Amino acid sequence: MASSTRCLIAGNWKMNGTLQESLDFVQALGENPAPEHVEVAIMPPFTLLHPLASPFREKGVRLGAQNMYCETSGAFTASISPVMLRDAGCHYVILGHSERRDIQHESNALIRKKMDLAWEYALEPILCIGEHLEERESGSTNAVLKEQLAVLAGVDGGVPLTVAYEPVWAIGTGKVATPEQVRETHAFVHEELKRLGHDCRVLYGGSVNPANAADILACEGVEGALVGGASLKADSFTQLIEIAAKVA
Ligand code: PGA
Repeated sequence: MASSTRCLIAGNWKMNGTLQESLDFVQALGENPAPEHVEVAIMPPFTLLHPLASPFREKGVRLGAQNMYCETSGAFTASISPVMLRDAGCHYVILGHSERRDIQHESNALIRKKMDLAWEYALEPILCIGEHLEERESGSTNAVLKEQLAVLAGVDGGVPLTVAYEPVWAIGTGKVATPEQVRETHAFVHEELKRLGHDCRVLYGGSVNPANAADILACEGVEGALVGGASLKADSFTQLIEIAAKVA
């Protein structure tokens, strides 16, 4: 890892979690879940942001949202704005997750619009990028990532930003990129970010669990993990934080 203080373990709960389940999760996290040199964050569904803000704050866990709309208020039924996310106590917002790109057809242009608004309202975007299996197999991974990172063109290098490299074929599938693939791809992502004037943290995501986390987090250029399935249970999530604390 480039710098131990940059390590972030972030849980993306996706469309999972009732109020009671989330309060049980908080309780099971224990008194001091976040060690000094590992940052911990959870992105629950919108309905749980307000009730979790204070219990997570007390435990030193940062709150994030999984998405937001590209306007601040108005007649946009069912949408959630950056103003609402700040009001609910969010620090992070995930943007460009492959499930939004693929299922909701979110474009790079829309993602950039959301990023600009996130920065305007002091939210830190976690920009997700990643290639599909056929793109990796045809050798176009770097071209795909380059195009996705191009949303940062012209953005001031000083803005708060985290990037998450998540190969789409590894998300929720139990397939993980090999350490060599992780190292190579993270090196490319860092190089491309540098070219665009950014020196930000890059997470790995895609089927990260307590059995593979040590190998992944030990890879050069990996500064934390964005975790789906293994963040839903407090015991596996806690194990991931403990592993990060050792590797970091
Ligand atoms: P997964 O999800 O850990 O369940 O593969 C990761 C993500 O989508 O961010």
